[in-house]
Amino acid sequence: MSKGTAVVTGAANGIGQAYAQRLAADGFDIAVADVGDAAATRALVEAAGRKFYSAIVDVTSQTSTLQFAADVSANMPPVAALVNNAGIYPWRSFAETDYALWRKVIGVNLDGTFLMSKAFVPGMVERKCGRIVNVASTTFWLNAPDMTAYIASKAGVIGFTRALASEVGTFGVTANVIAPGLTNTKSMRGTNEDIFDYLPQQQAIPRVIEPQDLVGVVSFLCSPDSAFVTGQTIAADGGQVRV
Ligand SMILES: NC(=O)c1ccc[n+]([C@@H]2O[C@H](COP(=O)([O-])OP(=O)(O)OC[C@H]3O[C@@H](n4cnc5c(N)ncnc54)[C@H](O)[C@@H]3O)[C@@H](O)[C@H]2O)c1
Repeated sequence: MSKGTAVVTGAANGIGQAYAQRLAADGFDIAVADVGDAAATRALVEAAGRKFYSAIVDVTSQTSTLQFAADVSANMPPVAALVNNAGIYPWRSFAETDYALWRKVIGVNLDGTFLMSKAFVPGMVERKCGRIVNVASTTFWLNAPDMTAYIASKAGVIGFTRALASEVGTFGVTANVIAPGLTNTKSMRGTNEDIFDYLPQQQAIPRVIEPQDLVGVVSFLCSPDSAFVTGQTIAADGGQVRV
């Protein structure tokens, strides 16, 4: 029995793929919006016995996000959860951050979260049920240089989520944030390998965070058990920051 569709953005790779796999194991059918090919994620979801749909979607394009919502509606069970995970994290000093890069980071991380919410939240409100999980980062609370655009975008995600929670609560829809710490993905390793040598040592649980360490939080936030939790940010970082 399907629990409905969970839409996960940026789930062709990395942490989003792990979210998709866990939500499939939880009983959701999965729809993935990513600029990359999600064939590997399809295999994981179908191995869990769930239905899968994906499309090449740039979350910064409203035309694409609205088309994706129409396609998901035509091909999949009603959307019960939306996980806005697609994100980019270029490592650049403020001096090196020009306006084009600033716009790009805000575009994917914050505008993308807004546009996907515009595409899927009205259906949740209409059906009087839904779970929105947005993805921030514990860098918001850390002394983290070379990330002005990124941290600003993730602060925006937290603010957007808190405000949205106030507007959808009466309709049985919750909106929360997961803020992961430094997590072992190919992209992050490719961006900053050195940081893995020392950052995990500052965690209460001093080992490298794997995507699998995060999935239980998203599972909970998409479940009936979290029905009275909304507007919150949960740091999943082995206890480095205290929110
Ligand atoms: N890895 C970490 O250490 C870490 C820590 C904290 C927060 N995060 C956040 O977790 C999320 C996933 O990180 P990750 O390390 O798994 O990254 P990743 O690069 O492995 O995966 C990101 C996915 O987003 C997709 N994507 C990028 N731009 C897109 C766009 N415009 N439209 C649609 N899809 C797009 C990529 O194709 C990719 O599949 C991001 O939001 C990131 O900011 C990551």
